Amino acid sequence: MAWDDLYSAAFQRVRERLGKVGNVLLAYNTNIDAIKYIDSSDLEARIEKVGKEEVLQFSEELPERITQVQHLLGGILWSVRRGKAAELFVESCPVRFYMKRWGWDELRMGGQVGIMANLLGGVYGVQVIAHVPQISRLQASLFKEGPIYVPTLENRKLKFVHPKDFAGDEENLIHYIYEFPRGFRVFDFEAPRENRFIANADDYNPNLYIRSEFSENFEEIADRVELAIISGLQALTKENYSEPFEEINRHLGILNDREIPVHLEFAFTPDETVRKKLVGILGKFTSVGLNEVELASIMEVMGEKAIAEKLLAHDPVDPVAVVEAMLKLADGTGVQRIHFHTYGYYLALTNYEGEQVRDALLFAALAAAAKAKLGDVRNIDDVAGAMDVPVNEKAQEVEDVLTGEFGLKDGIAQLDGYQLAFVPTKIVEKPKSTVGIGDTISSSAFIGEFALR
Ligand code: AMP
Ligand code: GLC
Repeated sequence: MAWDDLYSAAFQRVRERLGKVGNVLLAYNTNIDAIKYIDSSDLEARIEKVGKEEVLQFSEELPERITQVQHLLGGILWSVRRGKAAELFVESCPVRFYMKRWGWDELRMGGQVGIMANLLGGVYGVQVIAHVPQISRLQASLFKEGPIYVPTLENRKLKFVHPKDFAGDEENLIHYIYEFPRGFRVFDFEAPRENRFIANADDYNPNLYIRSEFSENFEEIADRVELAIISGLQALTKENYSEPFEEINRHLGILNDREIPVHLEFAFTPDETVRKKLVGILGKFTSVGLNEVELASIMEVMGEKAIAEKLLAHDPVDPVAVVEAMLKLADGTGVQRIHFHTYGYYLALTNYEGEQVRDALLFAALAAAAKAKLGDVRNIDDVAGAMDVPVNEKAQEVEDVLTGEFGLKDGIAQLDGYQLAFVPTKIVEKPKSTVGIGDTISSSAFIGEFALR
């Protein structure tokens, strides 16, 4: 069948059944994204002012964290030169003040939890319970209307309220997002692809701070949900991971006891110790979502350097290398579903069969195109509107390779006890911004699959 037909059939089916999805738990990271669309002469002037030499040095090799303005500007330049995303923690108050004065163009919901809560609750109408580390008035105002709830205690009794009805005004956790388009020029450098650099000025999420309403009542919260999506573990380091990991393991135990499917959104985790630990607990998750850089980084800690290199060598990413890596990951950890996304196509390897896996990927690709086009998905019609975005032509060569190698038919193949699902995605030529597209893809596909079951 033609992909356009598969797309529209999948969209209709998922849309009709979204109402059947039960409550979803989303934990742990929510923040405020202050988005700045950078201007090249402004950036050049700032770089010259603080010392071009030094900034260039940090654009060759990223510092571990930001303690001076040169690190911030070097980090932005690092991303521009490669067209790759990166995120660093800002330790220094003067740099935080510098970013605040530099300003932003737009304030948006941030963090995997926040972005997914607005999409699932605010757009799809699915009930969600979200973990929001700090509920400031500004943070609360960024939540869409809809069935989005945070736990709160009233006379020591657990209650669930929309974040806007949460009494109190806590801290603002701000992440500065420096976005640039493809072809963006700074000095002699040109961005090969649109992307962003994130400077994280937030003392809660990087330490995986968990609210007491959550940790003390996790069983009761788990009793109310049918699905869970976990994220926000990516900023942990070997110095601070052990306490939060204990708590996460406890939460996973509670969810596993209740047979609640749990998805891990595996964002880029720079610390190798933490990455290894995450791979170590992956079997407690039902599903994991990741991109090529994240999959390569996992292959590295699993001792598969050659596969890691292959994953980063081609554009579009070599699908045979992706399948090889996914099989290693599934066999090595026992995770039942691996959803891989890259520019141009998605793959899902599952230890169960069914067209719903592919159809959920198609639905997710529409949601992603809507997010890329508009920056924010306002309603389900925005998702339907993305049907007009053309399917990426480069994906044809990927499909041909998978057909030759695994006998793919209508996006589905059987291999070694697993099902492989493939979809070519819709690519927006000039996206409004790039932040949050990965979260949109993973949560739409996971929820979509359960809607179709
Ligand atoms: P991540 O890197 O995890 O945030 O996810 C980014 C994903 O967004 C990529 O893997 C692509 O699948 C998707 N994506 C990026 N740019 C576009 C675009 N212009 N149009 C549609 N999808 C995009
Ligand atoms: C990370 C960033 C956050 C951003 C999110 C988007 O969690 O810290 O600022 O909104 O990624 O995926």
